[in-house]
Amino acid sequence: MIDILINNLLLAQESIELVAPKNANQFVQVGYLVAIVLFISGIKGLTHPRTAVRGNQLGALGMLVAVLVTLYATEVSPIVWLAGMIVGTAGGVWLARTVQMTQMPQLVALFNGFGGIASVLVAGAEVLRGTGESTNIAVAGFAAGLTGLIGSVTFTGSLVAAAKLQELPQFKKPFSIGGQKIINALLLAIGLLLALELCDGTAWEYFPLVLLALVLGVFLVTPIGGADMPVVIALLNSYSGLAAAAAGFVISNNVLIVAGALVGASGLILTNIMCKAMNRSLTNVLFGKFEVTTSAADADEVYAGKIKSTSADEVAMLLDGVQRVVVVPGYGLAVAQAQHVVREMANLLEAEGVTVEYAIHPVAGRMPGHMNVLLAEADVPYDQLKEMDEINPTFSQCDVAIVIGANDVVNPVANTDPTSPIAGMPILNVHEARTVVMIKRSLSPGFAGIPNPLFAADNCLMLFGDGKKVLMELVAALKEN
Ligand code: TAP
Repeated sequence: MIDILINNLLLAQESIELVAPKNANQFVQVGYLVAIVLFISGIKGLTHPRTAVRGNQLGALGMLVAVLVTLYATEVSPIVWLAGMIVGTAGGVWLARTVQMTQMPQLVALFNGFGGIASVLVAGAEVLRGTGESTNIAVAGFAAGLTGLIGSVTFTGSLVAAAKLQELPQFKKPFSIGGQKIINALLLAIGLLLALELCDGTAWEYFPLVLLALVLGVFLVTPIGGADMPVVIALLNSYSGLAAAAAGFVISNNVLIVAGALVGASGLILTNIMCKAMNRSLTNVLFGKFEVTTSAADADEVYAGKIKSTSADEVAMLLDGVQRVVVVPGYGLAVAQAQHVVREMANLLEAEGVTVEYAIHPVAGRMPGHMNVLLAEADVPYDQLKEMDEINPTFSQCDVAIVIGANDVVNPVANTDPTSPIAGMPILNVHEARTVVMIKRSLSPGFAGIPNPLFAADNCLMLFGDGKKVLMELVAALKEN
């Protein structure tokens, strides 16, 4: 969220011809302090679902204060910045209202990219104006170089990440050219040299540096597999914050430095959490190869003659008299928009005295917290959402696990096949439940593109169909029982 807000601040800075409040009066400094406190309180609020909405509002308020204070400290006509704010706000509201829940990760990737390019433009404009006006030319010049480097990598890297998440055919598969790692290292080294060259206050180095970093951003992300995108998005988020912080040094703006550092640090923490959730080291994600090794023929081998298909009526009978049901939501739940009908099913079961819980895998869906957001929308009580470590030891005491549109995050191959692309990724142990009901439309693979032997397990029943439609049939059948 804060990175979206930073974009606004950067654009505000830009629209005022980068007149940084170097001689800012006390009012401006106090305003910035208030904004910083609001950012930090906002991030604190985001650490728990109960306080997240308030945290979001505090962060937004902080950014409004920061933008207004920045504009107050400049001599630009209010008409210009009011027009900018109206256009920006209208664009933001339109995007927030029209984007599908399943497209949120792509949108976050784009926001990261916009943050990166906004920083690049701010630093570029300042370089053209001459960092000579800065009190410390060397620091401002080098900071401008770092802004150009990190911001440009963030921009093109985020565009490629968004294209991968959108599953555009040209970007879906990991792609690299021979000797790419060496080329990347060279590009990075040249970029850093050019950034150092900017220390003397000259400007021309900035533009080849930006060009080179734009290419580097593409080269860094194209070889990374789709299943590693959560980590990449979190990392790019961190980069966008670092670029903004560096831009803060260029234009001597404290609030930009602090907000950028907050985004940079929180992005790194999230990257670490995501890496742990997928059992990958960051080096392995960035430089290792993620390949889908299993072919369609392997899928036939895994499933042939072993799939047991069921119906909503049969599942309703199965649920009659059970004590504990665990619902496992995945990406398909978001696609089907089945969250409300899931809640309706849970209400019916609870009315019969059944304990219903929800097992949340950290990378279920397509973005961090995807399942929490969906279920919160349907007013599922927070205390029924169980994290992986908490629920995994209890699956053996679960009568029925109902898996709705989840696949990779329940694929036991992660534990059994060291050659699998998801090898070592912690999974939800639904296979340990007495019965597993798997709701999905077909035997198609999930994001990682590999078959799931759970479908063929003795205790697994496949309930084929769109998640929402099938659950509505199940709810109708439960009401009849
Ligand atoms: P996936 O493994 O992607 O499986 C989703 C399943 O949903 C598919 O097998 C699909 O099967 C089914 N589905 C799609 N539309 C449906 C509908 N309308 N009704 C019912 N089912 C539907 O999802 P997952 O288990 O949540 O795992 C997430 C994967 O995404 C992981 O590999 C993860 O690494 C990756 N990923 C995660 C993130 C984050 S941060 N969460 C970001 C990027 C990538 P059918 O087509 O047969 O219906």
